[in-house]
Amino acid sequence: MTRIVVVGSINMDLVTLAPRFPEPGETLTGDRFLTVPGGKGANQAVAAARLGARVSMVGAVGDDAFGQQLYDGLVAEGVDVTHVARLEGIGSGTASITVAGGENNIVVVPAANGRVTPAQVEAARVVVRGADALLVQLEIPLDAVEATLRVAREEGVPVILNPAPAQRLPVEWLAHVRFLTPNQHELTTVLGAESTSDFRELMRRAPCPVVLTRGEDGAWFRDGDDEPRHQSGFKVEAVDSTGAGDTFNAALAMYLQEGLDVAVRKACAAAAIAVSRLGAQDGMPRVDELNAFLEAHS
Ligand code: RIB
Repeated sequence: MTRIVVVGSINMDLVTLAPRFPEPGETLTGDRFLTVPGGKGANQAVAAARLGARVSMVGAVGDDAFGQQLYDGLVAEGVDVTHVARLEGIGSGTASITVAGGENNIVVVPAANGRVTPAQVEAARVVVRGADALLVQLEIPLDAVEATLRVAREEGVPVILNPAPAQRLPVEWLAHVRFLTPNQHELTTVLGAESTSDFRELMRRAPCPVVLTRGEDGAWFRDGDDEPRHQSGFKVEAVDSTGAGDTFNAALAMYLQEGLDVAVRKACAAAAIAVSRLGAQDGMPRVDELNAFLEAHS
């Protein structure tokens, strides 16, 4: 069984469905409101678990009602929460999300996620050891991300670094990353590059292999000195793109051992399924759904 460790954020998503995005200062009447578990880390953990991986999550929730719900939700998905801290005197992370026309706007308040520490990551070394892949994003403090990269390197575990939300990163952090998985904006920011439409050139400049997500266009990928290669996106009706990138990352980690081309194709398919459904974790496919989708699109 593939064993995956995810180090990252755990949020409650406060989702409003609206006919369109409001202008600054404007009040709009929405269509529906729902609270659903999210957070890039937890989303990737749940997506990997649904695809059949044995997943350990490293992160933190607060001592509010959301914290209990989020913790219980991970347990219900079969995710190992031994290294999810339950912190006192602080709330859980939240994401206020507006969904309109299949797109989203997100404002994240880190709360407990901002208290994930290098020491906590170090304490989780025991679950990192022997894992097939480790997934980490940028919704926790950067010193915890740095510790994650170090522990994974020392344990010889391949890291997929999803640089979201976008932040400039020290170039030496990237040297040991197995795959960086940005969108174009994130890649530009991570590299501290000038904005350009030539994303392939940006990929060539990255000091590590890159799998670049391009929404409907699918993904471009480059390992070593290869020229970037392309996997087309799967056509679906877009309902909610929240969590689609997280689903992509989880599937990439899950299927990496089958070869990069296969993993990227399956990741695009899993993300397409997620986009066609409402809610970050609610939209994530189980392995049989992914296989059926791939069969239908072969
Ligand atoms: O990637 C989607 C996630 O970003 C949402 O679930 C939200 O919590 C934000 O962290």
